[in-house]
Amino acid sequence: MVVSKATTPRRSLSAVATSSLTTTEENRKLFTQRKVYSEDVSSAPAIEWAELRSLARDATNRSYAPYSRVTVGAGALRDDGTTVVGSNVENASYGLTLCAECSLVSDHIRRGGGRLVAVSIVAGDGKPISPCGRCRQLLFEHGGPGLLIDAGDGVAPLRLDELLPDAFGPEELGIRRNP
Ligand code: THU
Repeated sequence: MVVSKATTPRRSLSAVATSSLTTTEENRKLFTQRKVYSEDVSSAPAIEWAELRSLARDATNRSYAPYSRVTVGAGALRDDGTTVVGSNVENASYGLTLCAECSLVSDHIRRGGGRLVAVSIVAGDGKPISPCGRCRQLLFEHGGPGLLIDAGDGVAPLRLDELLPDAFGPEELGIRRNP
C-alpha cells in the first residue's frame, strides 16, 4: 500500500479549493490569491509508480468498452497518500464515452477530493497511452501543472504542464470574472 488514509490527515486548503468551486467567497479569494495550485507540495507522499500502474492495470479489467474494445485504466496518488482509480465507460451514443481519467476524477471527488499528485494510465494492450485533450484538462483542475503523468511502462513520467502548456484553470475565473 502507499500510505493509509488513517495515518495521513487531509490538508484543508486543497479540500476547500476543490469542493465548491463556483459559489463561496472563500474560494473566490483562493483563486484571486493564486493559491489553488501554489500549495506547498514538498510534503507530498512518495510515489509508488509500480503500485499506481498495478491499480491502473487492474482497472482495465473493469472497463466497459464494448464499442472500441480499447480498455483503459487509471490509478492516482493523492496528496493525503490515498489512491483512486478509474476505468473507461463507453456508451451506445459514442460521444458520451467517459475516459478512464474522467471516471478517476469522479472517484477522487466522491472520496473527498484534494489534490492529485501522480497518475498512471494503462491500456489493456499494455502499450503506452497518452491522455486525451479533454482528460488533460480534467486532470489539470485537480492536480495542477505539476501533476505527474505516467502513460506506460518504460516511458518517463511527464509533468502535466508538458502535456497541457498554458492551461486554462480555475485561477483564471477569479482573475477574469466581472465583479
Ligand atoms: N480512452 C481513455 O479512457 N483514456 C484516454 O486517455 C484515451 C482514450 C478510452 C476512451 C474510449 O473508451 C477508448 O479509450 C477508445 O478511445
